[in-house]
Amino acid sequence: MTSFMARPVLPLGRRVMGSSRAMLNTASYGPPGFGGAGMTMPPGFNAKAAQQLRAPRVPEKTAQTQTQPQPRRAHARDDSLNTLGKTMPPGYKAQVAQLGVFEIPEQVTGSVGDRALGKALVRAWRQDGIIQIAMSEAQRRLMEDAMAASRRFFKKSPAEKAACVDSQSYAGYIASGEEVTDGIADYSEIFTITKDLDLAEPRVRAKWPCHGPCPWPDVDMKTPMVRYNDVLGAEGEKLLQLVEFGLDVTPGSLTRHTRDGWHHTRVLRFPPRNATNGRGKEGRGIGSHTDYGLFVISAQDDVGGLFIRRPKEDERFANWEKSAAGLREDDDGWVYVPPVDGVHTVILGDMMQYLTRNYLTATPHKVGLNTRERFAFAYFHEPSFQAVLQPLDGMQDKAASSSPSPATKTKVTDEIHYGTHFTRMFMRNYPDRVTTKRLLAEDRLSLLERPELRTMGAVPAVPAL
Ligand SMILES: [Fe+2]
Repeated sequence: MTSFMARPVLPLGRRVMGSSRAMLNTASYGPPGFGGAGMTMPPGFNAKAAQQLRAPRVPEKTAQTQTQPQPRRAHARDDSLNTLGKTMPPGYKAQVAQLGVFEIPEQVTGSVGDRALGKALVRAWRQDGIIQIAMSEAQRRLMEDAMAASRRFFKKSPAEKAACVDSQSYAGYIASGEEVTDGIADYSEIFTITKDLDLAEPRVRAKWPCHGPCPWPDVDMKTPMVRYNDVLGAEGEKLLQLVEFGLDVTPGSLTRHTRDGWHHTRVLRFPPRNATNGRGKEGRGIGSHTDYGLFVISAQDDVGGLFIRRPKEDERFANWEKSAAGLREDDDGWVYVPPVDGVHTVILGDMMQYLTRNYLTATPHKVGLNTRERFAFAYFHEPSFQAVLQPLDGMQDKAASSSPSPATKTKVTDEIHYGTHFTRMFMRNYPDRVTTKRLLAEDRLSLLERPELRTMGAVPAVPAL
């Protein structure tokens, strides 16, 4: 701990050896059976290191010449790739990411330090496809409470869990083998939390697609999940503000789309690979895909299973036009993201790629099953369901003039209505769910063309109850 707390503070724009690119080292692991139970947190690992990284902000006065936009190392005592790689699921071969940890300020004010941090975040995403940010103490407590609630929920009987379904929203339970990625069942077991709207809510009464209640099993699940989601919502807004600085776009260019954002969360459990139900692909938790919104803030326990692909010039995709599911699933070039105590990882999604004209690209990722069951959260920070998105002003030039730049030749459509994009993604993932069947039977898709569904803040006119 002492060694990196004592790292010298560097002037703005200065690149250091500890940048995230320098820390993405190469190592291969692959023999089946490597990384068995009990090997995930070896003696001497400083599990509290990342938690303690959230140091006080540099005062504005000194930030003129001294900022800390570079990520810091998350491991103080045992940061060897051998240690990090030991949690990799058996049977996989990948590089092991050894990422730094960024500290996000309590408030984003537009200070010199905020601007430098925004640029560092954008740079790290373009290089590594993923960033890590330190949890605050409050976030950590809420995450642990939510994780405990998740474990309690998934221990319930299959019948109790299966009852948590709603026919109007896609919130609720998804059994292992029910989710489909690129035509193949995944072994993930999920509870999805979407905007919780009761039956009297005007948008629900007007039968807007995907709008409805969240079928909570009980308050024991609901309370910690809502609190954790709320704190991640605030974190997501700060990240968006920082990205605006990082991209040199007008403040508000991104956050104007997230008023009443369609934020939602996937509470995830992955069975151990020796305890699957035969409905999916051996060893696979979730197949290769990109996420559909702005970005995902995720947390994982100490088991390990997440793999990503770094942005690459020769890997072009636009998931909103043609599904990127299954992309390079069995190819080389995957990077394993090992569990690090006290951090959230942030993965970019399709809408960030679209808005920035491929300057920032959605990060392909997949999940492998490990030797122990694994729990994780994926919080999706999203535009409003009503948002109509167009690429940000000035991004064409930036993408064209940068080198290397991934996917610069990908076609960019004129505009994207986020609600339509979300609805299509969920119908594709859950073709047999009651929600999809009702949506089609009641022709709710046609409502997506109505002006009130494409105007921020508009509410439907519905008769009084
Ligand atoms: Fe995902």
